[in-house]
Amino acid sequence: MDEENGEEYLFKVVIIGDSAVGKSNLLSRYARNEFNINTKATIGVEFQTQSLEIDGREVKAQIWDTAGQERFRAVTSAYYRGAVGALVVYDISRSSTFESVQRWLQELNTHSDTTIAKMLVGNKCDLEDIRAVSVEEGKSLAEAEGLFFIETSALDSTNVKAAFEIVIKEIY
Ligand code: GTP
Ligand code: MG
Repeated sequence: MDEENGEEYLFKVVIIGDSAVGKSNLLSRYARNEFNINTKATIGVEFQTQSLEIDGREVKAQIWDTAGQERFRAVTSAYYRGAVGALVVYDISRSSTFESVQRWLQELNTHSDTTIAKMLVGNKCDLEDIRAVSVEEGKSLAEAEGLFFIETSALDSTNVKAAFEIVIKEIY
């Protein structure tokens, strides 16, 4: 709550993408500066609220993280309800996760408003040695689908803050 003018900005952002692309670690890196090498697959839904300052105003982002695995997912419509931003994540070392992006976008488009701010996130850019999806491929998909694009590493923190904050600032 902004005490001075009584206004509050709370934005819901969802993270989607295949299992093990690093959704939960992107969130824990952003919200708590934590990374876990042995994370368990997410079951159901988790969320974290993160405050940031934009133009001198306090903005709160409620960031939702769900399971990439179908059998562990919660009710889809409830997950997307009210979301104004989305991070669609793949793993740059596994092509199959990039191929799934279209499916995730379809689900997102079915359940959300057309004005939702979307960021395509190629995570695990620290794994350059075993890269399977080029930066160009990521960029051109993002351009074709009207998304922002960024590569991140939850492991070494590259661009994690930027990935969330570009989306949140676009909403704001
Ligand atoms: P689900 O909950 O099953 O949907 O998976 P998830 O997308 O939340 O993936 P999670 O964050 O649990 O990470 C899966 C594995 O990838 C873990 O072993 C992480 O340590 C690892 N990982 C996550 N981000 C990175 C990264 O940026 N670089 C590297 N090298 N490994 C990562
Ligand atoms: Mg997870």
